Amino acid sequence: MQKNDIFEGEVVDLTHEGLGVVKSDNFPFFVENAMPGEWLRLRVTKIGKTFGFARVEEFLSKSDKRVESTNMDYLRTGIADLAHLTYDEQLKFKKHQVETVLSKAGVSVHVADVFPAEEVTGYRNKAQIPVRSLNGELTTGFFRKHSHQLLPIENFYIQNPEIDEIILDLRNLLRESGLTAYDERTNKGLVRNIVVRRAHKTGEIMIVLVLSKAVKIDFSQVIMRFPGIKSIQYSIKTDRGNAIFGKAFEVIYGQNFITDELLGKKFQISAQSFYQVNSTQAERLYQTAYDFADLKPTDTIVDAYSGIGTVGLCVADRVAQVYGMEVVAAAVENAKENAALNGFSNVHYEVGTAEEVMPRWQAQGVRPDVIFVDPPRKGLDESFVKTAAQMSARAIVYISCNPATFARDAVRFEEAGYQLERVQPVDLFPQTHHVELVGKFINNEKVSN
Ligand code: SAH
Ligand code: NI
Repeated sequence: MQKNDIFEGEVVDLTHEGLGVVKSDNFPFFVENAMPGEWLRLRVTKIGKTFGFARVEEFLSKSDKRVESTNMDYLRTGIADLAHLTYDEQLKFKKHQVETVLSKAGVSVHVADVFPAEEVTGYRNKAQIPVRSLNGELTTGFFRKHSHQLLPIENFYIQNPEIDEIILDLRNLLRESGLTAYDERTNKGLVRNIVVRRAHKTGEIMIVLVLSKAVKIDFSQVIMRFPGIKSIQYSIKTDRGNAIFGKAFEVIYGQNFITDELLGKKFQISAQSFYQVNSTQAERLYQTAYDFADLKPTDTIVDAYSGIGTVGLCVADRVAQVYGMEVVAAAVENAKENAALNGFSNVHYEVGTAEEVMPRWQAQGVRPDVIFVDPPRKGLDESFVKTAAQMSARAIVYISCNPATFARDAVRFEEAGYQLERVQPVDLFPQTHHVELVGKFINNEKVSN
């Protein structure tokens, strides 16, 4: 087979990213907007050594689980790469992903049905929108998958609608102000990205413009139209790197944080800090973690990868001590402020990596009863797993946004004397392939004693 060849076949599976899989003489092709059971006439668009890509020329049959009205921009950009599946199919897909990755790793455990979301669109509290020039005009939208080619988009579908409105207002303001959009080829042009966060409970809004240099912009109209705005900042970025923000931040209006509420506790959030993008489902996620932990008033808990302190602070009034660590200094500042804001003095937060702070706590004699871990996609450092297991907590509760690294770490915990008892996926990212889950590991020694 070669590029532009035409063939027919049945979609037999979906990849982890939601692409249909069609085999031709056992050679797999990945196809956008294709669902299992569908028969397709396809055109080869790219061919590699072990797999290729193909495009639908004609649907010979369609799945009855397909959402027909799907805007292809959402699939092409990956904003909503499962938007062509009914929500029920999305949930089944996610559960199946978790089961498959765990059984391939040799971990046997019961995986519960995914906790569905009630809001399946408009749920995101945060947007990171690239600004580029299209036909000579400053434009906002999203990049096509695996590219930096901007597709203009005004309705981002899964973001809170007020965030979409603000982005359009800002785009118009930037156009009227005659400002230039960033150009990656030349590393010239002023405006690179617009980042907007909107606190789900309080409606407070933060805007960060990522610019090549600070310039004067009159935001007064935008501030009048959106009274929720509590913070406007510039982040100055001059390098070509992929990180969204530059090092320097400058407050243009209001404060350098917004305040939200989760599970009845208040949280200040700065631009640099991580904060779950789906607040309603984040509450569900944390609640699941606490249910698994079965906390007692005498418990000492560790909140590893603590961000602004959400996991530990939501239960600081139900346990004796909270120890948290986090690598982003601004987030740890938020965590300390958040402890004070909620009136807690039984908490201790440190800046540092989990893998360097945990052994120090172990040496200092910290004896956690429950360890919560909530790492980024790359999962846990191998040495951290060993240290955590040696501290002989009765349970380790693992919040994961990546089933693959979760499965790898589960094998390591099982080698280190813990057993994965249960797994509960929670859907924080409807319409996308992203899967979030909570796993509970129990200490084999404490079970047999
Ligand atoms: N528990 C928080 C944050 C989870 S996101 C919440 O629910 O909001 C993961 C966090 O881990 C991020 O804040 C990130 O900055 C932090 N992080 C990344 N690598 C780390 C490391 N090696 N050690 C400690 N924290 C790390
Ligand atoms: Ni993925």
